[in-house]
Amino acid sequence: DEEREGYLIGFSQAMTTDNWRKEMNRSMRIETSLHPELDLEVLDAAGNIQKQIEDINLLIDKKVDVLIVSPIQSAPITPIIEKAMSEGISTIVIDRKIEGSNYTAYVGANNVEVGGNAAKYILSHASHKKGNIIEIKGLAGSSPAYERSLGFRNVINKQTNLKIIGTVQGDWEKHSVEVGLKKILDSTSNVNYIFTHNDRMAQGALEVARKKGLDDNIIFVGVDGLYGPSGGIQLVKDGILSATILYPTGGSEAIRLAKNLLQNEVVEKNNILKTVVIDSVNVDIMQNQFNKLNQQQTDIEEQQAIIREQITSYNTQNSLIQLMAFL
Ligand code: FRU
Repeated sequence: DEEREGYLIGFSQAMTTDNWRKEMNRSMRIETSLHPELDLEVLDAAGNIQKQIEDINLLIDKKVDVLIVSPIQSAPITPIIEKAMSEGISTIVIDRKIEGSNYTAYVGANNVEVGGNAAKYILSHASHKKGNIIEIKGLAGSSPAYERSLGFRNVINKQTNLKIIGTVQGDWEKHSVEVGLKKILDSTSNVNYIFTHNDRMAQGALEVARKKGLDDNIIFVGVDGLYGPSGGIQLVKDGILSATILYPTGGSEAIRLAKNLLQNEVVEKNNILKTVVIDSVNVDIMQNQFNKLNQQQTDIEEQQAIIREQITSYNTQNSLIQLMAFL
């Protein structure tokens, strides 16, 4: 766009109903605001594949300078990203992957490692490396669900006395686990561990287990480790989850990558974020770290609100002065 002053980054977000994605958007906005030449437009697909394809088409038509996409599922979103690429738009894929390698860069944690870490946590806490496990999966067709399961099973399946006795196909949301888990717990109460692919589903699983009076016997392990009132860090602190595997959103990293691309820098194709097990041993340290980070982010947001106000009042004063000069 010739009339554009700086650069426009278009972001197609899969949905924004949950706090993890709200945090991703927030960190993108904050990072964008640190670079005056950058502008960010976020379109929310609300979990609807068709809408996400339309959103990306809109951003292509707008000729955004960089496109960022967090796909709902891999396969159905692949062709539209290939279209963006063929029209010369640099495209960053974040969190969930697409199929093939026709994109500019990916940013996200290694989800095979995330699943592996969950399994290793269970292994190190199982007495005599023994026990029955239920695995609760994220949305089928979204890459983190596939990869977390793969990493988890790679480790567990090498153990003769640790067994996955049941699998529930969830969809990342809390209520998606209820029917499937209830069915399993109706048929057996001999469950030692529940690994859920995220912390929201862990809360759903806990409620089902509680109704059966089994919650005290079961060790829950989740993923995300989000900071905040009902986030995974607090759940570990409250002893509701035994552990959660940190899954950073990558929001600020994606914007920094976009900025590097716009400055014609060479960027890595795979930008892998660090993950870590959060349990009772390190939860206070983690919470402190996130407290500080959150305070910094809030400070930035407040300062920017003040600057915006000053600009508005400057603009009004300026128009008044011009008006007076005219009169
Ligand atoms: C948020 C979320 C997270 C999960 C991620 C996987 O919408 O469900 O809880 O880790 O997506 O893509």
